[in-house]
Parts: sequence; structure tokens; C-alpha cells
Amino acid sequence: MAQTPDRLRLGVNIDHVATVRNARGGAVPDPLRAALMVQEAGADGITAHLREDRRHIRDDDIARLMEQLSIPLNFEMAATEEMQAIALRHPPHAVCIVPEKREERTTEGGLEVAGEEKRLAAFIAPLREAGCRVSLFVAADEAQIRASARIGAAVVELHTGAYCDFHVEGKSGERDGELARLRDMAALAAELGLEVHAGHGLSYDTVGPIAALPQVVELNIGHFLVGEAIFVGLPAAMAEMRRLMDAARSAP
Ligand code: PXP
Repeated sequence: MAQTPDRLRLGVNIDHVATVRNARGGAVPDPLRAALMVQEAGADGITAHLREDRRHIRDDDIARLMEQLSIPLNFEMAATEEMQAIALRHPPHAVCIVPEKREERTTEGGLEVAGEEKRLAAFIAPLREAGCRVSLFVAADEAQIRASARIGAAVVELHTGAYCDFHVEGKSGERDGELARLRDMAALAAELGLEVHAGHGLSYDTVGPIAALPQVVELNIGHFLVGEAIFVGLPAAMAEMRRLMDAARSAP
């Protein structure tokens, strides 16, 4: 897959609009309304994670997004039979396979691809046949990336959570080490023919060095944008993120 280093796509994850809705039950705020608003504001795609426990996005949110969006939907899901059946019922543009543990607050760590190569190859085969672009959410780890290429994934999404956590904790040495790993693994993934995405935990403060990685063609960002939207609104939050991405991309 050819890499397009100049135009970096921004996928907006609207899970946490649903988190706020679900805090009270009911129907508002509606994640579909947020998705349509960021679509209008120039997002390149919408990401939504249907978790096993339905803590934020619900099945009918996915159905409504599929029906009403005109930009691509990136459907995040665990590698379970239930999620595979949902994705195959109405195949989205892309599926991103993520690890999922019931007790975690958010997706911690990347998918174990190397240790589960056979099972995951069989799991993604029908999704690929149905026309979905299959993405695997992996840590910046050579074994996981090589295994992702071997099983025929189209995309790897590099997990930027550790890099962002080190930044927030003021651990600049560890942050720079993780950034170097992300840089090397983005290059390796592209060399192996994988399209490279990145995401998790990104904010205005952390997006620049990731946006500057030339092999990365898409960022998926959610929690920070939804939080910032409380203060400035979603389109303004997205526009500022876009500006920072473009600035990092065009810096010499
Ligand atoms: N990419 C993947 C694969 C994710 O699981 C998530 C979180 O759902 C994100 C990106 C977005 O992370 P955040 O909400 O921290 O921006």
C-alpha cells in the first residue's frame, strides 16, 4: 500500500460522547450528532469502539453511524465471534482489532498478534473477504508488526498511549525512548507494506512528534477532543488539532 506522507488523516473517536450520555441513561448527548458535526467540520473518518460491556458505544449507535455517515467508519472491536458477526452483518470501511479487558478503564497495551498468529489470521480472513480494511492496534514492537504483516493485515495502528503517559508524568527520557521506538516501528511497518496509523492518549501537547512521523497516514483521537469540546466546542477543538498536525507535518 502506497504511503501518502503529505496529507495526514484525522479520525475522530466519539466513544466518550456516549460515555457522557450513558452516565444518565437516555439519549443525549448523541454520539451520532457529534459524528455528523465533526464530519461537517472536515474529519476524515469516525472511530467508534463497541466494547463487550457496551459501556459507551451501543449496537444501535453503530447501526446509525453506518447508515448516516458519508465519511469512513473505523469500527474498533475485540477479536470475538460476537463482534465479528456484527461487523460482517454490515461491513464497515475498516475494522480495528484491539485487545479488551473488562476491568480496564481504556485499551491498555497493544494486541498480541505474534502469540496468536494462527487464530487472528483465521479471525480476520472473513473480514478481509467482506471488503473491510483490517487494522491491528499494536505496541511499537517488532515481533507484533512482523506478525501483523504475515497474517495479511492492511494496517497497523501504533499505540501511542505509553508515549503520552510518559509525557504527562514528566518522564522525558522514557517518553523520548518510546518515541524512538514508534519512529523505528513506523518505518519497519511501512517497509513491510503495512499502512501506518497511530493513536491513543494524543493531545495538543503530544500530537506533534507523532504527526511528524512520515510513514503515519492517519491519527485517531478521541478522549482529548471530546474533553476540549466542553470548553470550545468540537469543531474548534478539531480545527486546533488539525492545525497542529499540519504544522508538524510541514516542519522541515
Ligand atoms: N485508537 C485506538 C485503537 C483506540 O482504542 C483508541 C481509544 O478507544 C483511540 C485510538 C483513541 O484514543 P483516545 O480516546 O485516547 O484519543
